[in-house]
Amino acid sequence: MKIKTIGVIGSGLMGSGIAQVAASSGLDVLLLDVDQARLQKGLASISESLDRLLKKEKITSVQRSETLKRIQLTTQISDFSKADFVIEAATENVPVKLDLFKKCDEVCPKEAILVSNTSSISITRIAAATRRPEKVAGMHFMNPVPLMKLVEGIRGLRTSNETFALVRELAQKMGKTFIEAKDSPAFVVNRILVPMLNEAVFALQEGLASVEDIDTAMKLGCNFPMGPFELLDYVGLDTAQAILEVMFHDTGDSKYRACPLLKKYVEAGYTGRKSGRGFYDYTSQSAK
Ligand code: CAA
Ligand code: NAD
Repeated sequence: MKIKTIGVIGSGLMGSGIAQVAASSGLDVLLLDVDQARLQKGLASISESLDRLLKKEKITSVQRSETLKRIQLTTQISDFSKADFVIEAATENVPVKLDLFKKCDEVCPKEAILVSNTSSISITRIAAATRRPEKVAGMHFMNPVPLMKLVEGIRGLRTSNETFALVRELAQKMGKTFIEAKDSPAFVVNRILVPMLNEAVFALQEGLASVEDIDTAMKLGCNFPMGPFELLDYVGLDTAQAILEVMFHDTGDSKYRACPLLKKYVEAGYTGRKSGRGFYDYTSQSAK
């Protein structure tokens, strides 16, 4: 099977990065979101990322414009009737994803592969929302997609070998290193990373140190490129909370309960960089 046209669902942090990297790899991209405002925001972040890569001479201006030309924006899922492969990167929410996979199954060609970029949700469960579970898999990119080299591939219980081979092939075509992870809550990276980020919020809640000092401790003490609060702001506090809720719900293990302070920030609308405020304030001069 030759993959030529990719449908990407969600033009947020991850969907825009996935669309950019797919288009840079020579694929035609249909980028879907719920309204034009979100699509335009996604396109602006793709442009900005390409500008950074151009400035660093990682791409040429011809590659920049060709990448942008390959991305078509849409609010109509029926346009996915032209897609060979769909990568879903909508909000981390079970009903949203089940509904999207059901709709994709209805509109996409019957041979199309459907994958989810979910951070935590069972691929077997998502696949069961379709009539083609053997053609559904997990393809977990890391943030920021243009820079991070890893893709975790996840087989649902009914994913076929042919589908999984195509997922691996596509990840490699997009310049990524592929690892296979079991279909278990939060797979490998987030199983380890997200409880650590949650623990940092517990440390803050208990008054162990300030946001800045905890970040400095982990950057200088462990050589992390970002401190846990910088990373939570980068990933999105709402997304981190959603991941913890899946881990807690699906394992029943209390060690995965989301820290009350994390929930409080999300309730306040402090979801991180994307809203202008998380553990740091991105609207003021002192923004990180
Ligand atoms: N597109 C293109 N270029 C970008 C970019 C983007 N989106 N973001 C940053 N860059 C470039 C910058 O232009 C800069 O280039 P040079 O080094 O050539 O000057 C370089 O990347 C470094 O950027 P900055 O100086 O702005 O910042 P930095 O040194 O802190 O690097 C970072 C940024 C690569 C994001 C680094 O901080 C980092 O690796 N952070 C950790 C990221 C991480 O852990 N990601 C995983 C999150 S978890 C996940 O994704 C899974 C999940 O399900 C939640
Ligand atoms: P985000 O909030 O930045 O973007 C989500 C986008 O999905 C929004 O633009 C929203 O409008 C759109 N959306 C929601 N419902 C939709 C629908 N029915 N149809 C079309 N679009 C819809 O979120 P994000 O950080 O990009 O996360 C997207 C997915 O990627 C989640 O499953 C998340 O767990 C996963 N992920 C996130 C990260 C991260 O660091 N943020 C890393 C890896 C994977």
